[in-house]
Amino acid sequence: MNYKKFIAEKIKEIREIVGPGKALSVLSGGVDSSTVTVLGHKALGDRLKTVFIDHGLMRKNEPESVVKTFKKFGIKVATITAKNKFFKALKGKTDPEEKRKVISQVFYGDVFRKILQKSRIKFLLQGTNLTDIEETVAGIKFQHNVLEQIGISTEKKFGYRLIEPLIELRKNEIRKVAKILGLPEEIQRRIPFPGPALAARIIGEVTPEKISLIRKATAIVEEELKNSGAFQYFPVLLEDKATGIKGGKREVGNIIIIRCIESIDARTAIPTKLSWKILEKITKRLTTEIPGVNRICYDITPKPPATIEYI
Ligand code: XMP
Repeated sequence: MNYKKFIAEKIKEIREIVGPGKALSVLSGGVDSSTVTVLGHKALGDRLKTVFIDHGLMRKNEPESVVKTFKKFGIKVATITAKNKFFKALKGKTDPEEKRKVISQVFYGDVFRKILQKSRIKFLLQGTNLTDIEETVAGIKFQHNVLEQIGISTEKKFGYRLIEPLIELRKNEIRKVAKILGLPEEIQRRIPFPGPALAARIIGEVTPEKISLIRKATAIVEEELKNSGAFQYFPVLLEDKATGIKGGKREVGNIIIIRCIESIDARTAIPTKLSWKILEKITKRLTTEIPGVNRICYDITPKPPATIEYI
């Protein structure tokens, strides 16, 4: 693929679609939304408004670090807080697909819609990629950002139109576009993180307490595996509990799964052969630094038959 040509074409396309108007980019800080934000900025300059939604399901320090990185890059990002909306919508929901759909509904039908209405913007720029679309269309799982391709018209339903410049590309190709656009290395190489964020890392009901636990676990796992070179790594909190011993007493505690995989484009994946030493270190940290966690398992299932995430 000729990436320079691709970039020039997409910039032209964005300009043509938006015309003299404005567009909104919702930045999560991942490589897809970051790439789209820079494309949109190149196409529209100040006519692109960029926001970061703090939905309460993000990783440690994520809102601050995304805003800071883009400021250095010359793009102003406004943070919009919407924590209560997501927790309220997720209350009592345990089915994985229902959780995904609820999150998508709050994003598109409520949060994005209100920002767009208030700023009188008609276009939403987003970084949907080819794997997201294929998995949703095939009925494997409903990726939060796939709507038009399954017959949901945001224009008819919510009054704004989606612009998706990356739908032909997979993760490895998007990283190449990001590099040519001059995005910082830390963004180019960022491990994938799903739109439903930490809610995708909790089996069963998502509560602020469970999010707080998985946020701490995610910080530990990411810190320990950042030099692993793996495609993606993260912990998952199970719904079941296990009997353990802490301080000589019985503790019915939480079970955390560690997932670390090798992949090129997230279509297939194989587990990383992590050393026993690193697994022991992660286990020790998770069980000592997070109260109520007493059992850690390493998942060695490839995709297929598993998917990368648990919900
Ligand atoms: P699965 O679990 O389907 O994940 O094997 C494939 C890749 O996609 C990411 N993922 C998502 N990304 N919205 C996203 O933007 C979503 O709803 C979503 N679900 C999964 C996942 O982290 C993996 O890299």
